[in-house]
Amino acid sequence: MKRLIIAALVAFAGATQATAATDDTAKESKKTLIVYYSWGGNTRHVVEQIRKLIDAEVYELTPEKAYPTEYHQCTEVAKREKENNARPALKGELPDLSKYDTVIVGFPIWWGTFPMLVATFADAAEWKGKTVISFCTHGGGGAYDSDKDLQKLCPGATFGKPFSAYGKGGSSLEKELRAWLSANKLSLK
Ligand SMILES: Cc1cc2nc3c(=O)[nH]c(=O)nc-3n(C[C@H](O)[C@H](O)[C@H](O)COP(=O)(O)O)c2cc1C
Repeated sequence: MKRLIIAALVAFAGATQATAATDDTAKESKKTLIVYYSWGGNTRHVVEQIRKLIDAEVYELTPEKAYPTEYHQCTEVAKREKENNARPALKGELPDLSKYDTVIVGFPIWWGTFPMLVATFADAAEWKGKTVISFCTHGGGGAYDSDKDLQKLCPGATFGKPFSAYGKGGSSLEKELRAWLSANKLSLK
């Protein structure tokens, strides 16, 4: 009888451990990654504010060939890339999305959509089963169809509610970010 009880206790302890391991795995898979590009700093500013509100890792997209630092020259390069549906090369190893279930993709609006290097990243990633949430900063024109454009490049992903900010977002940014992140069911810190 004593042996039986011990065996049952050992089995129970094993089962508890197995449950704990499963729970840890579940927690692991709830990670969020913010992938962004920022030419002038506005989008980076919004990323920094998001990071204050949620637990997320961050990956910054860097073009292999830097864009011109002069605004007009940059607009010309960006225009050509958009017209050619280009996929400008990115520097460094891209993030492994298998570690995350939610990917927030942030970018400035260039010529009515995301910079083409965001398309380079989207093409290279495996989107099946991911939740993707896009946000942009813009110069007054709004988000245009950037979220829909991104959806086309992320097959198998479910898209959340997008967000857009004018420039750096102004004084209401934190309040707006809280509402947006909550609407997307991301836990605030
Ligand atoms: C190449 C280029 C194209 C742009 N095209 C647009 C546009 O079509 N509509 C708009 O509202 N703003 C446009 N802007 C303004 C940027 O979207 C805006 O300033 C944004 O906040 C910049 O973000 P960043 O500082 O992270 O690069 C453009 C800026 C650049 C450099």
